[in-house]
Amino acid sequence: MNNQKELIDKKIHRMYELMEKARSGGGQKRIDSQHAKGKLTARERIDLLVDHNTFRETDALAHHHSNEFGLDKEVYLGDGVVTGFAEIDKQKVFLFSQDFTVLGGSLAAEHGRKICKIMDMAMKNGCPVIGLNDSGGARVQEGVISLGAYADIFLRNTLASGVVPQISIVMGPCAGGAVYSPAITDFIIMVKHTSYMFVTGPKVVKTVTHEDLTSEELGGSDTHSSKSGVSHFNAENDLEAIKIARKLLSFLPANNVDDPPYLATDDPCDRIDEELNYIIPLNPNQPYDMHDVIRKIIDDADFLEVHKDWAQNIIVGFARLGGRSIGIIANQPAVLAGVLDINSSRKAARFIRFCDAFNIPILTLEDVPGFLPGAEQEWGGIISNGAKLLYAYCEATVPKITVITRKAYGGAYDVMNSKHVRGDLNFAWPSAELAVMGAKGAVEIIFKKEIDTAPDPVAKESELISKFEEKFANPYIAASYGYIDDVIEPKYTRPRLIEAFNLLANKVDKNPPKKHGNIPL
Ligand code: HXC
Repeated sequence: MNNQKELIDKKIHRMYELMEKARSGGGQKRIDSQHAKGKLTARERIDLLVDHNTFRETDALAHHHSNEFGLDKEVYLGDGVVTGFAEIDKQKVFLFSQDFTVLGGSLAAEHGRKICKIMDMAMKNGCPVIGLNDSGGARVQEGVISLGAYADIFLRNTLASGVVPQISIVMGPCAGGAVYSPAITDFIIMVKHTSYMFVTGPKVVKTVTHEDLTSEELGGSDTHSSKSGVSHFNAENDLEAIKIARKLLSFLPANNVDDPPYLATDDPCDRIDEELNYIIPLNPNQPYDMHDVIRKIIDDADFLEVHKDWAQNIIVGFARLGGRSIGIIANQPAVLAGVLDINSSRKAARFIRFCDAFNIPILTLEDVPGFLPGAEQEWGGIISNGAKLLYAYCEATVPKITVITRKAYGGAYDVMNSKHVRGDLNFAWPSAELAVMGAKGAVEIIFKKEIDTAPDPVAKESELISKFEEKFANPYIAASYGYIDDVIEPKYTRPRLIEAFNLLANKVDKNPPKKHGNIPL
């Protein structure tokens, strides 16, 4: 009997020994080197990301079976990626965290298979996938097998798109074709100074284009958060990146058939804000910060802004109204007068499509003077990029509410969730101006002759502008056609919106059956 117990204990001991070996990654020296770079290890990151003691690892004992180029002497349990499932704020998630201490987190057959396994499980069980990327890319020694493993992941990223939320946190290198996995996911969070993403690195760039750039300049977090828009969030360090991921998840449903989570708030639903009445300057050319409007309306002024540093002429992000998650798209008069251009159209279109895919109602706050004119915009494709935004609004079937705070001019009026593109409830503040264009531009076109031939053209123009403003720079003509549902006093915006989103909570709308549409990509 004693002998039997001893044998069983020995087996259990062996199991723990193997698990411990898996936990040690590439060894203490490489862990120290990871820390010296200001980076956490794969497992430390998971510990911070998930609720305490909820992580269950899968495939901790998997390893590569390659003998090429000395790999048989470098067999590490786990094969450079920690995978499994856990809970974040009690919501089930699947995750993988690449371990740079093992063969530089490089990806090959086993490493890729492990990631695919948890993605398949996430899809079957309707749970978000979070990827923590820190990898030297395709494992050179395993050659084309590594490339195949990447493609297996890309396919799953694509199939999972619009089914479960996918979040990528890039916390180290992510280069070459490897960038396309995060790029297909819904959100990318990058870490300043320690992460970079590029299709070709600085050396190749220097040879081909003679541009001399550091990795940071070419594809660091600041670059992708402000110049390319590839990254949605720009974190100071690993810890902040993880906090952002947790916060982001708090707004999202687990999958495309669930509702977003409800979070009770002490912020009264009937709270009115007198300051909103006076927030819009009387001079239509004077800017104001739309963030102030957002913060005054939403629960607890708690706004998670997405793409904060890119295309700042439009604001997008998540908030709650009366405890329900909403996505906000808001023109920003404080940047380029809130005009729509290529990047702001792309930014808002992608955000709208995410919200629509995951049943998150959309609030549009509108103050837009139109589309940005110029050769750069035309040659860059403002036509097809602006059309993306229009298309995204048109196809979205989630509850859609618009508040026009000031300008709704020209084609941009149609685009920004007008009634005509299935806006469910469209409100205007008394300061709203719905018109083909601003008074000055309109007068210059329709009264050109009258102004030119007047004894005092300047006085004539200003008289005509005043007349035009009086007649057209208001919401009442649009209201007379039902193009807006109601004109509301700004201070009541929060209670009116909460009431409206409650009304639309069970909205059902659909698009004609089709394989998929053909958004002007
Ligand atoms: C195998 C790799 C590796 C890789 C790094 N390592 N990248 N092993 N395949 N791709 C190993 C190193 O040999 C080293 O092993 C350890 O990881 C740490 O690497 P270091 O170079 O010491 O670290 P660091 O100085 O921080 O530099 C990190 C790095 C560099 C910039 C990522 O390692 C690098 O340039 N690696 C190659 C990157 C690359 O060209 N990858 C292929 C990209 S193309 P030891 O034993 O010393 O700890 C690609 C295509 C994907 O990925 C296509 C999908 C379609």
